[in-house]
Amino acid sequence: MSNETVLSPLQLAERQRRAAECAVCYVESGMVVGLGSGATAAFAVRRIGHLLRAGRLQGVLGIPTSQAVEALAREQGIPLTTLDEHPEVDVTIDGADEVDTALRLIKGAGGALLREKIVARASRCEIIVVDESKLVPRVGTRVPLPVEVVPFGWTLTARALAELGAEVARRMEGGEPFLTDEGHFILDCRFGPIEDPAVLAAAIKAVPGVVEHGLFIGLADLVIVAGQEGLRLLRAASMGSRGERGQPCAVPSNR
Ligand code: A5P
Repeated sequence: MSNETVLSPLQLAERQRRAAECAVCYVESGMVVGLGSGATAAFAVRRIGHLLRAGRLQGVLGIPTSQAVEALAREQGIPLTTLDEHPEVDVTIDGADEVDTALRLIKGAGGALLREKIVARASRCEIIVVDESKLVPRVGTRVPLPVEVVPFGWTLTARALAELGAEVARRMEGGEPFLTDEGHFILDCRFGPIEDPAVLAAAIKAVPGVVEHGLFIGLADLVIVAGQEGLRLLRAASMGSRGERGQPCAVPSNR
């Protein structure tokens, strides 16, 4: 929904950094923090590492959403934990591939959607950080929907997804099928703009062989968007009234 010309990689990285570092203002000492995957969330991981090393944050425990971010977090000296040890996550900072006007997301371009969704579901506050090119009127407009499937019988799973209206392509990497951290395939499903994401999400989950899909509905509490005009904060209508998932997002500190 941006009319801007294409950004240079440096301009894009600067926007990603600003959105991510704004999100880190919601992280306080002693928190359990979900560490999202992708280039934008990586800026948040580096910022948390910096604040820990500077002594401006203490006692933070990270829960990585992928092997890649786990390696980055270790490099940054962020102490890590697991969902089994800490099943309640105070705040998670993650990226997204598309965000619609109701803060529904498509995630999974990096292949980490399964762990990302498990961590998001366990989070009191899910903060999504994006540059404004990710804003769309309807999810599915620009990117295919990644669906994580078990390798066994994957062609049948792909056929069933095609019957739901998608153009389906198995994700490849270096001439081989891409494998997720859990050893599954990703089927990139191009549905085009999705009219009813909740109905489609339920239909996809009902297909045998599907492990998870990249539609994140009702999971984002706050979306921080970096654009030409600076930062914009989009809050979910439910933010601050989350019974099931615990406390709402904390008010950011003045860090
Ligand atoms: C990882 O699987 C994804 O969900 C990422 O969070 C998403 O692709 C955003 O990544 P970028 O910040 O690199 O665009």
